[in-house]
Amino acid sequence: MRKNIVAGNWKMNMNQEQTAQLIADLKEAMPSNDASVMIAPTFVNLAKAVELTEGTNIEVIAQNMHFEASGAYTGEISADMLKSIGIQTVILGHSERRAYFGETDEILAKKVKAALDNGMQVVFCFGEELDERKSGEHFNVVESQLKNALFELPASAWSQIVLAYEPVWAIGTGETASADQAQEMHAFIRKTIAAQYSNEVADQVSVLYGGSVKPNNASEIFSKPDVDGGLIGGASLNAEDFSGIAVAFS
Ligand code: PGA
Repeated sequence: MRKNIVAGNWKMNMNQEQTAQLIADLKEAMPSNDASVMIAPTFVNLAKAVELTEGTNIEVIAQNMHFEASGAYTGEISADMLKSIGIQTVILGHSERRAYFGETDEILAKKVKAALDNGMQVVFCFGEELDERKSGEHFNVVESQLKNALFELPASAWSQIVLAYEPVWAIGTGETASADQAQEMHAFIRKTIAAQYSNEVADQVSVLYGGSVKPNNASEIFSKPDVDGGLIGGASLNAEDFSGIAVAFS
């Protein structure tokens, strides 16, 4: 059955000292409920974060990885490298990777395959831009992002996938999709997966919402039947806010 998840994407924030401090604060602040908690510090702080969260229910995950196993890819990190320091989950397809680093659906399909081939779990991000929503294209955009990057996968691979619907216009802007807009899209996502695979696959996949989730809007968004939690950017950099979002599941 699908899980409730609250995942913090720290992006390019927090040096090692700040990482240690935030983890110490989270250990104090996080509620214990049925939600899985994930945090995604930067690459250089992953090993330290794994060490500092040992014995807690906080899973440390990566923000990105390359699809090749090794070789002449300066500046890149492979699945095997992540696994060797205890990372089992990777975020792929974040809109900032797509917009600033040229990640296409085709590249993402390769990255997803590489992660799954290595037995990792993927938090796969996708979502429409503002002009696409305004012109009523948002369902088509989301459908094609899913199709191009994920629909070649066998049904069995979907137990390793978590989806994160993140409308680009709501990321870091303070503008959140309404709970009803999130529910509408999440239901569409599940329907699209059911049509391609089966109701069983669609029902078991966790679908997170991301985009300006804060303590004051989390419970309404998470209360929707097809929303299984959130991928949190800005508010994950502060233990009070992140724990304030996690209690939305209590
Ligand atoms: P935000 O970021 O919560 O700061 O809007 C969400 C994300 O980019 O995953």
